Parts: sequence; C-alpha cells; structure tokens
Amino acid sequence: MSMEQKSRRIGIGSVGLGNISKGVHLPGIERSPDLKLVALCDIDPKALKEAQEKYNIPDSHCFTNYQDLINCPDVEAVDISTPNDSHFEIAYAAAMAGKPYALEKPITMTREEADKLAEITREKGLKSMVCFSYRFIPAVRYMKDIIDRGLIGDIYHVSMQYFQAWGLPDANVPLVWRYIKERTGSGALGDLGSHGIDLVRFVTGKEYKKVIGHAGTFVHERKIPGSDETGKVDVDDFCNYMAEMDGNTSVNFQITRFAYGRGNYQRMEVYGSKGAMVYHLDATPNTNEIEVCMGEVNREARVFTKLPIPDKFKADQMQSFADILKDKGDDLAATIFDGQRNQHVLDSILESVEKGEWVTL
Ligand SMILES: NC(=O)c1ccc[n+]([C@@H]2O[C@H](COP(=O)([O-])OP(=O)(O)OC[C@H]3O[C@@H](n4cnc5c(N)ncnc54)[C@H](O)[C@@H]3O)[C@@H](O)[C@H]2O)c1
Repeated sequence: MSMEQKSRRIGIGSVGLGNISKGVHLPGIERSPDLKLVALCDIDPKALKEAQEKYNIPDSHCFTNYQDLINCPDVEAVDISTPNDSHFEIAYAAAMAGKPYALEKPITMTREEADKLAEITREKGLKSMVCFSYRFIPAVRYMKDIIDRGLIGDIYHVSMQYFQAWGLPDANVPLVWRYIKERTGSGALGDLGSHGIDLVRFVTGKEYKKVIGHAGTFVHERKIPGSDETGKVDVDDFCNYMAEMDGNTSVNFQITRFAYGRGNYQRMEVYGSKGAMVYHLDATPNTNEIEVCMGEVNREARVFTKLPIPDKFKADQMQSFADILKDKGDDLAATIFDGQRNQHVLDSILESVEKGEWVTL
C-alpha cells in the first residue's frame, strides 16, 4: 500500500443491507476516519433505497447485482453481509477482482467452499476479515491476554453457552432464511455456535482436534412470510457439542434459540491449573467485566473477583477492517483462514450429529 493510500479514506462497497449491516457495518464504516462508504448493493430495492437515502449515495453507485458493485472502480474493498448462501459467491467474485473483503459468518455453506475461498484469497495475496464480532468485546480480549501471559496455566476445561430466545413458539418468528437449510447451512449451530467456536479458539489459542454433537428442532413448521401456509424448518433449533482441543483441553458448548428470558446471552468459563475466569455477555446488561479466581487466597476462599476491563482492550469491528487494509492491524481480528477453520469445525459437528459419533478434524 502506497503512502497516499495509507493517508486517505478507502472506498468501501457494502453488499446486503439488512439487520447486521444497518446495526453494525454501515454505522461502523461511517465512524471510521479511514473508510468511506462509496457504493451499496441489495437485491431488495426497498433496503437499497433506505440505505441510499441514509448515507447519501448517488444512483450511479447503488446496485441490485453484487458484480456491478465489485466492478465499480471506486470500490476498493467489499463488505459482505448477505444471508449465508451467497457469502461464497460474492466473496469469491471480490477476490477474483483482486479486491479485499470483510465477510459475515458463517463464511460459507460448506468446508469445500471455505477451502476454495481461502485458496483464492491466498493466491491473490488479498487481505480479509471475517466478522466474528465478539473478538471485539474488550472482556474477551482481556481474557485472551491473561491466558497468553500464562496466568491461568494449562487449560483443562472451557464451558461456553450462547443462548437466545427468539425460537420459542410464542415469539412467532416466521420461516425466515435462518430456518431454511438451503439458505443458511445450519440453524443455531452456524448462527450462534460459529461464534462460540471462534471465541474459544481465539481466547485459548488452541485448535480443535475432535468433536461430537447433539442437535434438534423443537418447532418443525413455521408460517411462510406473506402467506397463510406453513413450511418446514429443516435446521437445528439447538446444538450442544463437546470438543477436544490441543493439549487435551475438554470443551463443552450449549447453543440454543430456546432459552427463555435470554436476549443475546453468552457465558464462557475457563478452568486452568493456576486459575479460572468467567466472561459473560448480556447477563447484566451494560457491564463490561470478567470474574477471575487466581492464586491461593482466592482459591481457598472460593471467591471469584470482578475485574473491570482496562481501556487498552477497546476495539471496533469496522475500524479493525480499516486497520487491516492499511497495514496497521493488531492481528486479533479473524481472517478468512480463521473462517476456514471455523467452517471445518461446523461441518464436522454436523457430520457427528448425523453419525452419532466423534469426528476427528
Ligand atoms: N457477526 C454477527 O454478530 C452477526 C449478527 C447477525 C447476523 N450476522 C450475519 O450477517 C448476515 C446477514 O444477516 P442479517 O440478520 O443482516 O440478515 P437480513 O435478512 O436482515 O439481511 C440480509 C440482506 O441481504 C440482502 N440480500 C440477500 N441476498 C443478496 C444478494 N445476493 N445480493 C445482495 N443482497 C442480498 C437481503 O435483501 C437483505 O436486505 C448473515 O450471514 C448472518 O449470519 C452476523
């Protein structure tokens, strides 16, 4: 990257202007002093118009076909937040055009697609980011730092819960793409479990060696949006799985959309030879802390102490993409290669659920 590129804003084209784009991607691009939103794309003209008006993008830079956005000369990097079934083709097309990209999770529908995407990205020497958003939570980064410094010792166990409640029958969520295998790949597993898999790998620095899973569906029929008919849910409402990681670390995950009273609740507990830590999200809204039990005194008293998170662990997802593009990244955001590992674990869990046995990665 030239000096001139380093000092000016990089032109971003965003594809897929739904919930996560409106809530995280577009505001994050706008906030960044290093990025400039220059083009938009959505197959839904209403979604396109709404974002166009909000961010004041000219007609010439608003598209319903992602290839047109990728071909737009002002687009230097592509930001992708469409449903899962189009991630691969859009990111692959961006890579073929030699444009770096930020991609939502789960990165693809299968590990074969993930391998192809990783390969073309490597071959073209492109920068990439996968939006494993919880890597940007300061408490998570603090936990990783404590583990990296060896303060927890050898890690024996990690327990990870990711609970939401919007699957419950009385929430009446219709048959949106997240319930259709052809569009989403898997249900709670790919949606929430992919984050859990990445979080534990990120925090511990360990790779998965083998997995075994149990998944199920509680509500089998849901109303087709805009119709009186119902259609079949063919993905998991919950998925619980265990994993063995490097160094014999044994991890268990509980992932569900049927946890009454939960919003976007996560809890991760880490138990090592020298200490233990607990991270939670959303249990007490707006708190940013971890709980630690370290050293003889805490251990004897069985006390976990709440620690506030030092400011230096603050991070921002879209600014991290800008930093990657400008060669000043902190190496903590996920790249396509982390996404590739993640997809292999997801596929192995699905394989294990089907076979009812452990699957080695
Ligand atoms: N990182 C996170 O924490 C997080 C949170 C929520 C969603 N996500 C991911 O973000 C993605 C989108 O989720 P969402 O909740 O915003 O979905 P959504 O349904 O609200 O929005 C998707 C948008 O993409 C558009 N779209 C569909 N196919 C397209 C195509 N081929 N080209 C252009 N536009 C297209 C749709 O019209 C829609 O506006 C999913 O992959 C999801 O897993 C990630």
